[in-house]
Amino acid sequence: MVREVVVYPDKRLKLISSEVVSFDEKLHTLLDDMYDTMREKNGVGLAAIQVGVDIRALIINIPVEDAEEGVDQPKENTLEMINPVIIEADGNEKFQEGCLSIPGVYEDVERAKHVKVNYFDRDGHAHTVEDEDFLAIAIQHEMDHLEGKVFIEKLSYMKRKKFEKEWKKRTK
Ligand code: CO
Repeated sequence: MVREVVVYPDKRLKLISSEVVSFDEKLHTLLDDMYDTMREKNGVGLAAIQVGVDIRALIINIPVEDAEEGVDQPKENTLEMINPVIIEADGNEKFQEGCLSIPGVYEDVERAKHVKVNYFDRDGHAHTVEDEDFLAIAIQHEMDHLEGKVFIEKLSYMKRKKFEKEWKKRTK
């Protein structure tokens, strides 16, 4: 089921999400709904707080080329990360990012190029993922949401001011 996406500057986006303790049906439904919502809005990732639930859960699904479907994001490719923790981060990379909570805005953001992350899946099993490509960037973007941060906070002072001005005009 598609849920409503929380849009900037909604105060909920500032919440620090809490650890997941029960890997139950409610969590599974939330993750399924997050996938439906991400697909509906053409995103590549979504944190739980973006549908108004302040728990440390996020999903990422990087589109793949499919011979029949064209660019596709099959559900089985969804990386579901519960209580993720970055255990290694190095290098530097500038990448153009967007966010379903700030629709239509794309800006270059600097992040670590390589990350190694511990996390749990929906059944509470522990995993580790390592990447130095787009997935690494997506993980860092979504994990920021768990700390109540959005990507425009990483812009320079001038760029941020320009964004706020244009955003106010657009959302009036
Ligand atoms: Co985002």
